[in-house]
Amino acid sequence: MISLSVIGLGNRAGKYLSCLGGKARVECLVEPDAFRLNRAAELYGVPQSHCFRSAYDFFASGIKVDGVIIAVPDQIHYPIAIEAVKRSFHVLVEKPAVTTQADYESLLEASAQAGAPVGVCLVMRYHPYYNRIKELAGTLGQIREISHTEHIGPDRMGHTFVRGGWSRKENTGPIFLSKCSHDVDFILSLCGPGAKATKVQSEGSIELFKRSQAPAESTDRCIHCPVKDCRYNAVNLYRERKEWIAGFDVPPGKTLDQIIEEVLTESQFGLCVYRCQNDVYDTQKVNVELENGIRLSLSLEGTSAKEGRETIIRGTKGVLKADGGIITCGAIREDYSQLESAPLHAGADKALVEDFLRSIETGTPMKASLQDAAEAHRICFLAE
Ligand SMILES: NC(=O)c1ccc[n+]([C@@H]2O[C@H](COP(=O)([O-])OP(=O)(O)OC[C@H]3O[C@@H](n4cnc5c(N)ncnc54)[C@H](O)[C@@H]3O)[C@@H](O)[C@H]2O)c1
Repeated sequence: MISLSVIGLGNRAGKYLSCLGGKARVECLVEPDAFRLNRAAELYGVPQSHCFRSAYDFFASGIKVDGVIIAVPDQIHYPIAIEAVKRSFHVLVEKPAVTTQADYESLLEASAQAGAPVGVCLVMRYHPYYNRIKELAGTLGQIREISHTEHIGPDRMGHTFVRGGWSRKENTGPIFLSKCSHDVDFILSLCGPGAKATKVQSEGSIELFKRSQAPAESTDRCIHCPVKDCRYNAVNLYRERKEWIAGFDVPPGKTLDQIIEEVLTESQFGLCVYRCQNDVYDTQKVNVELENGIRLSLSLEGTSAKEGRETIIRGTKGVLKADGGIITCGAIREDYSQLESAPLHAGADKALVEDFLRSIETGTPMKASLQDAAEAHRICFLAE
């Protein structure tokens, strides 16, 4: 049976661990947070001797595994991935694979030298809705132009990119890279094999989530704020709607409601979105010209009420529109909107893990290999 080490036991790792089926066993776990580490150790029956608070302690232990899943914050993908490939472990790293072009090239080289394949968690490659768009795009003749907007949505924007762990570049990287690298990868996959950018032009800014946009009577923390109809009110999001709370750990002796009150009164998740330390853009437009003449217009939109992806593909024989899970293409109209909220990215997380295990078993690269994802990452680095 395939043995794995899982590094970083947060949201994404939990999803991948739930997809292992009987095909792999968890040999080692790595996580600095003791509560999360112990919780996963119990769940997957991993002895304390194989549980580590730091990835370097795991590497130093000399324990051999077949594969390593890296699901830590973006900025530390590279140092951990490089150690893993040096030991010839197969690697599955979350997207974005790394946060600079130099690190990308270095990881590619190290992976080739060690013969250790690296896969990237580009779940859109395994998603039935995006695969259907790709299939139908094949009927459009020669593709000339694609316009694609990722609407982040108010709750995700406030929680993740204004208040949370992806709000400051120094901790995460540029937002276009962290949020849209898999969008760019998907769009490139529609443009023919080896599609390469010859020109990248980008404009980004913080339009909404800054002090100058704060309502006059608003306060630093939502819990004290008189502006009750604010769309970004944390009390409404966490206490009333109970959304985006999956990452709030509830240790023994406490209740979820107590934790939510602590979050609202003490943590960054209770702060006014107009008064956070965020420095990643909330709006960005990136225009790309490809070697084969296709023009791409890619937008990241974090300020509107809308959530989801909107894609228009114009070809010499037709036009495809995909918005909110609905695809129209000539006489075809198909509704995949139920898949938007289906668990595990509508099965794509499971397909990704299965591809990783297959890659380990057969020694062949994943469908989402580091090599294949290089151009999408390069475009994101250039946009920044
Ligand atoms: N593929 C996707 O669709 C998708 C979706 C969301 C996030 N992501 C990416 O997945 C990665 C993880 O995101 P998440 O949402 O699971 O975050 P998370 O915060 O829920 O989990 C990250 C975990 O890593 C742990 N960690 C921090 N430093 C560590 C270290 N040095 N060694 C080991 N563990 C460490 C944290 O304590 C935390 O438990 C990020 O790179 C993120 O950009 C990908």
